[in-house]
Amino acid sequence: MAEKFDCRTTGVHPSEITPEHVYLNRRGFLKSLGIAGAGAFLAACGGSPPASPTGAALPAVTETAVQGEINPTDEPGDALTSFEQITNFNNFYEFTFSKRDVAKLAQEFPTSPWQVEVYGLVNNPHTFRIEDLLKQFTQEQRIYRMRCVEAWSMVIPWQGFPLAQLLEVVEPKPSAKFVRFETVFDPERMPGLKNHSYPWPYQEGLRLDEALHDLTILATGLYGKPMPAQNGSPIRLVVPWKYGFKSIKSIAKIELVETQPATLWTTIAPHEYGFYANVNPKVDHPRWSQASERRIGESKQRPTLLFNGYADQVAHLYEGMDLQVDY
Ligand code: MTE
Repeated sequence: MAEKFDCRTTGVHPSEITPEHVYLNRRGFLKSLGIAGAGAFLAACGGSPPASPTGAALPAVTETAVQGEINPTDEPGDALTSFEQITNFNNFYEFTFSKRDVAKLAQEFPTSPWQVEVYGLVNNPHTFRIEDLLKQFTQEQRIYRMRCVEAWSMVIPWQGFPLAQLLEVVEPKPSAKFVRFETVFDPERMPGLKNHSYPWPYQEGLRLDEALHDLTILATGLYGKPMPAQNGSPIRLVVPWKYGFKSIKSIAKIELVETQPATLWTTIAPHEYGFYANVNPKVDHPRWSQASERRIGESKQRPTLLFNGYADQVAHLYEGMDLQVDY
């Protein structure tokens, strides 16, 4: 498949290239779902400091009021990637495989009206209008590193809300073990969908405990502005400890399911793209190393961190798993 991810063909030039958090009373919610270790989850949400590249402890994930000033750096002190770079170097294959053309092609993409249908193994299936999601859930700012499987990275100031808050409303049944996400399918406005060698619509999935983790958000904007079309307007997933392809854009459907769902990338190339896709410098892509990455806007390589630097918050989710096998 010629268009598969390949950092050697991305042609990135060095010049081109994260009010107080609303406390969720999830304890009862998690217990009702029968999730083991809810206490550990809540402790992790409390923000054990992640390890820095130098091994020093870092403060918790940065959260500031959406209306307030945007921090100029992420928690290790790395500068934010510029708005210009974040919005002009994109992977959104429904439009094109050419990163620099997504913004232009997506400009007219209509994202109003927009609905997100949440269904499957839930007690309260519900279709949310985007304007209701924006009102119902307090929008927070989260500055996250994003590490693409292609070995480049950015630091992006998102705004959005924890996916757990939405799941709390629909009440997953005890039989729900995974969450499946689907991007809108709009061949008239998404020219890339004419490429029939891909199993559209773009689909992704998370284990339920990953979906409920406080770091996992549904993002509705960046840099304090509504989400640009090229970045997945009006609403996308952001899972900062996983490779960027897990962070599915322009979500139309969210389904709670019992078994691990098929995803676009595990369907196309399961030997190259695992379901978990946790950032891991020790598990190379079959065609390139994942030991280091280039931050967009910098020329030098920097070491890639296990779980993209969020290990202290998320490593417990994978206890007992062999990360070389479940990659
Ligand atoms: N979601 C959809 N629907 N289609 C895509 O092609 N690309 C993924 C992910 N989400 C993609 C997607 C990949 S490979 C990456 S790296 C990120 O989106 C890129 O997000 P960005 O363009 O906002 O930086």
